[in-house]
Amino acid sequence: MTRATLGATLLALVATGSPAQAREFRLGLITPPTHLWTQAAIAFGDELEVASDGSHRLAVFPARQLGTEAQLLQLLQTGALDFAILTISEITNRMPQFGAFYAPYLVADVGAAAELLRGDVAREMLLSMPEEIGVFGVGYGMAGMRQILGRDTIRTAADIRGKKVRITPFVPIRDFYQLLGAAPTPMPLASVYDALANGQIDAIDMDLEVIWKLKYYDYAETLVLSNHMMFPCVGVISGKTWLALEEDERKLVSRLLRKHLDRVMSAYVEKEREWETAIREAGVALIEVGPEFFGTTLQEWEAIWAERTPTLATLRAEAAANASQATTP
Ligand code: BEZ
Repeated sequence: MTRATLGATLLALVATGSPAQAREFRLGLITPPTHLWTQAAIAFGDELEVASDGSHRLAVFPARQLGTEAQLLQLLQTGALDFAILTISEITNRMPQFGAFYAPYLVADVGAAAELLRGDVAREMLLSMPEEIGVFGVGYGMAGMRQILGRDTIRTAADIRGKKVRITPFVPIRDFYQLLGAAPTPMPLASVYDALANGQIDAIDMDLEVIWKLKYYDYAETLVLSNHMMFPCVGVISGKTWLALEEDERKLVSRLLRKHLDRVMSAYVEKEREWETAIREAGVALIEVGPEFFGTTLQEWEAIWAERTPTLATLRAEAAANASQATTP
């Protein structure tokens, strides 16, 4: 089905709706059971069951049990899966405007990231998802800010040049590390621990929760605390599932999924310092750096992505407005 036909079909069916029935929903995601996204998915299912007086249940499939994010998206499009929590990276592979979220230093910290993801521009970006990829985006969560964890000592960006840096497989982060002179190495989360352990990679682009919970610090000497990018996720509902729900059920599932993803953002704001301290106490040397660490890479990335999507300028404007409000007494 072409994008246009898929969009038109969804819109036509949205107008008609269909009768309510008890449902056993399925939600897929790639994060392991201990991860905040997985815990949010479980909490969403629990609340959905209570709120529907037991008529709706949710089975959660974490840790790529149903496949990669590309496969999850296909399942959503066919209606074989009802919900997913997806990294914005997979969305960006199909909707390049979402790459704007990965602009280096778009926001200063995890609190500002949460504010931007709760804002108007981010919300409006979700509106084109049904037409473009056949799923409804209900709201954002995130996995904090990106840092660099190195097997060896890192003092300057020169220590990363020519080194294999594991990245989440998608273009904005690949561009960033290529411009930095590193060798970006796309790799799913599940393969990272072994790759660090056996020296297949020299460093990883990652957030503090995963570095701590999946023990990536076991094989690392340096954590470059750079906060260089945010890492959002989005809660999505299959277009086919959406069409099978009545209006009040759509409202219920959207509200609850959005609520639990929003709580994930608050949890990152609360917990980041705790994870940072734990990693430091595990014996990893931390260096705190700002944009200057990356030199001209930042302007070069911006030039490429400003041309790829006008959304970058819109998001930057909102982020700047938020930042100036935060500093105005
Ligand atoms: C990653 O690919 O780095 C990642 C994916 C999902 C959650 C957190 C990190």
